[in-house]
Amino acid sequence: MNAALAEIPGRTSGRTPGNMALALTVNGRPVRVEAEPRSHLGDVLRERLDLTGTHLGCEHGVCGACTVLLDGEPARACLTFAGACSGAAVTTVEGLDGDPVAAELRAAFNREHALQCGYCTPGMLVAARDLVLRLPEADERRIRVGLSGNLCRCTGYAGIVRAVMGVIAERRARGIGPESGAERALGPVGARLGEAGATPVTRPTPVPATAPAAATVAAPARVTDLDAAFTPTHSFTQTFDLAHPPEAVFALFGDIDAVAACLPGAVLTGRPAPDAVEGGLQVRIGPIGATFRGRARIAHDPATLSGAVRGAGADAGGRSATEGQIRYRVEPGEAPGTARVLLDVGYTLTGPLAQFGRPGLVRDLAGRITADLARNLDARLSGAAAPAPAGLNPLRLLADLVRARLAAWRGRA
Ligand code: FES
Ligand code: FES
Repeated sequence: MNAALAEIPGRTSGRTPGNMALALTVNGRPVRVEAEPRSHLGDVLRERLDLTGTHLGCEHGVCGACTVLLDGEPARACLTFAGACSGAAVTTVEGLDGDPVAAELRAAFNREHALQCGYCTPGMLVAARDLVLRLPEADERRIRVGLSGNLCRCTGYAGIVRAVMGVIAERRARGIGPESGAERALGPVGARLGEAGATPVTRPTPVPATAPAAATVAAPARVTDLDAAFTPTHSFTQTFDLAHPPEAVFALFGDIDAVAACLPGAVLTGRPAPDAVEGGLQVRIGPIGATFRGRARIAHDPATLSGAVRGAGADAGGRSATEGQIRYRVEPGEAPGTARVLLDVGYTLTGPLAQFGRPGLVRDLAGRITADLARNLDARLSGAAAPAPAGLNPLRLLADLVRARLAAWRGRA
């Protein structure tokens, strides 16, 4: 690679202090490029190499617009540190110009009207090509699952799915089988941490019943596992107000069944004790979903109207795990007879979901979950209609989040 390294004129010369020099093979061409250590691959491709076919939408791993091939496998360029790619082969949509499968897909996309604004199309083509090559027997459902990590704001997906089905059918008719590596799981690079041969992941013991970004239900963690010291990878705070006296709010926090019924996605799987609860939450982010199960220890301090929940859990397949801690305090609100609840949340997330665990995304999701929680607590304290049952609708929360991201796109597309 070294002999033919191409400097990108006007882009890579004049090393800036603190920048990293990266040697990559991009679309078959060895290049050396500089990047800040914090740069993600999408920015480097677009801003340093002028490969603007790779689009950036959410920059949180949700929309799939930035999908490229990294050493032949689909990867989220927005979640991939460029510095981690040194020596890797990167293929963008521009690199698929001469690719026969991509050519068939482009023709099929045209034929089936599978694009409108085209923002999602580069990532969609990269992901679809991977499907076509690996899954020659894929039916419509499999294709929809395979493309579920790529969001399109325009087409309604019908044309896209028809286009991919058409290419698969044509190739099957020509007797073309799957490429090697077809057995690997769906999902972008990093989603296969639990597979045989992969580097084992050190996981915290299984789900905080009230963890913000996570999820839900299965073989519970041992409560004793929760005694060990815990240093969260990420932390943030949430605050909400309730039009009820602090003492009433604190008393409600002591009713685990009631709180669980108010928390979107939460499910109790055992009868709660005063200091422990078994259960979890459901999470689906982009192409990856997890149903966690775990245990949490609970402590309340009536003297200070405060408490803590410390939990851990893992999804049923054991591929994603999380451990978290929530400290809460109930204070008098600004108006007499009202309460302000302060939540201090710390968590660690490992496994496939960790790639979506960027603090901004988690904060967004947690903000929406907290808003629903506050609304449901208020309803219960007011004696109004019972809140929606546990397991509420994390997909709606995600849809709200994606809608907000898409709104932000429109100014950038
Ligand atoms: Fe990377 Fe949305 S920009 S997944
Ligand atoms: Fe998919 Fe517009 S064509 S986002």
